[in-house]
Amino acid sequence: MKIQNTYILKLFRGFSLLARLAMIFVTSQILFRKMAGPLPLLSEEPAYQKLQQFYNAEGKNINMKELFARDPNRFNKYSLRLKTPNDGEILIDYSKNRTTEDVWPLLFDLAKARKVTEARDAMFAGQPINITENRAVLHVALRNRGNEPILVDCADVMPLVRGELSHMKEFTNQVISGVWRGCTGKQITDVVNIGIGGSDLGPLMVTEALKPYCKGLRSHFVSNIDGTHMAEVLKRVSYETTLFIIASKTFTTQETITNATSAKSWLLEQAKDPAAVAKHFVALSTNKEKVTAFGIDSKNMFGFWDWVGGRYSLWSAIGLSICLSIGFENFEQLLEGAHFLDNHFRTAPLEENAPVILALLGVWYSNFFNAETHALLPYDQYLHRFAAYFQQGDMESNGKFVTKTGSKVVTYNTGPIVWGEPGTNGQHAFYQLIHQGTRLIPCDFIAPAQTHNPIAGGVHHKILLANFLAQTEALMQGKTAAQARLELEAAGMSGEKLEALLPHKTFTGNRPTNSIVVKKVTPFTLGVLIALYEHKYLHKASSGISTLLINGVWNWANNWLRQSSRN
Ligand code: F6P
Repeated sequence: MKIQNTYILKLFRGFSLLARLAMIFVTSQILFRKMAGPLPLLSEEPAYQKLQQFYNAEGKNINMKELFARDPNRFNKYSLRLKTPNDGEILIDYSKNRTTEDVWPLLFDLAKARKVTEARDAMFAGQPINITENRAVLHVALRNRGNEPILVDCADVMPLVRGELSHMKEFTNQVISGVWRGCTGKQITDVVNIGIGGSDLGPLMVTEALKPYCKGLRSHFVSNIDGTHMAEVLKRVSYETTLFIIASKTFTTQETITNATSAKSWLLEQAKDPAAVAKHFVALSTNKEKVTAFGIDSKNMFGFWDWVGGRYSLWSAIGLSICLSIGFENFEQLLEGAHFLDNHFRTAPLEENAPVILALLGVWYSNFFNAETHALLPYDQYLHRFAAYFQQGDMESNGKFVTKTGSKVVTYNTGPIVWGEPGTNGQHAFYQLIHQGTRLIPCDFIAPAQTHNPIAGGVHHKILLANFLAQTEALMQGKTAAQARLELEAAGMSGEKLEALLPHKTFTGNRPTNSIVVKKVTPFTLGVLIALYEHKYLHKASSGISTLLINGVWNWANNWLRQSSRN
């Protein structure tokens, strides 16, 4: 009887799994059909035209200073707080934008008309939303930390993902603990990632961003075909203690294969034993055949799949150099952070959805104010490659002059030019143009409330944050001619000299910024930030005043800052 019961239970479980999979499949088909319907050109969309009319009538004259003066609650109204399980809240303050209560409903209507939620759901359901390659876009499966199956062509990809993650874990632990050794028996001390584009930028950015979590191995990255890049790295490492990671989705990219071949020759010239390759070379790729032909044993290969786009691949085996730097548990935290944001993106209504809000602001400025660029300005030295990473993400995703249906786009802009450098270096380089130039440059200011390096009693970080806050305030407020006049008079200036200098000392202000503040840059919070921007651009294709404003962000951040000085 017991046997029979167990049998029935198993049968039932098997049936319920099948039923779940069938349901997911049917829902995803419905979603894809809903999303796949032809959309008019963006500029022909009625919701877009309404925005255009609003812009012409009122939008172009919106003045942020006046809005803050009128509404003391503006900071609270236009900021989101994402509560993470262990790493504090993440603040996204988007109050310093040229938006009013009239603009937001029009922007959300546009998102609805362009079927943003349907596109999002189709992506999570594994539908082939990459129409040029007829492929699913499923980097979210790589960081799916729940038990939910994710289907591609009717098959659940999660067992494959979990299998590859345990291979990465095993290898990472072996190398870090010294079980995996070089051809002469010495422990590995240096890791050289050879890759380019998505097979370089993500691992490099994250490894730099999470340096405080480094477990001891030194990381190096070679991407450029210029032999100087490789030569300079080889000068710093020893063949006996170096592991080369050849990272290439296709394993055919000229730069990577040329650099990998040179690295292999360098190793063999010194080791004088072809067996050394197996101890010093591993491959991260989707192309087993090419990896084997290059001379790397397939058991030293970490695989991923064609539904992982190159610029979204750091979550896959391409993240092995990250694991070797910060350890596998921290890599898992990075995945957890991204998964947390994925859940927010999936479930939050459009009006409270962080990536959707950031993307709509992008549309507002690019398409109506003709802003050509978007600056990413992290006030954290560890994030010095942050802008470079998202340059690829956004510009490779949205850098297209044709629509999905092949029509040429002539009446609006697709993606922005993304750029930036860490604060305060940028302040002494290009901020002049952001404050006083002729172009409108929307900026994202990103900062951790707590630093990993509270040197000199934390004074550096306080000055850094003061700069962060002052810049967004100054960009919003500007400086009127009357204020500038008072300053010049106070400095003892008058007459013609003062009048001549006055226009040079005036700032128009009204320059938009978002402020994004995390408690600390941790693997988890970094995962959240990366996923936030990924979803933003991926789904885009488709005194009184100042004190109030500053206090909003400041009170919030100061809380964490106080805690860190006590620690
Ligand atoms: O040049 C663009 C690109 O295709 C990126 O999308 C990709 O990340 C990079 O080249 C490298 O490609 P692979 O990983 O196949 O070597």
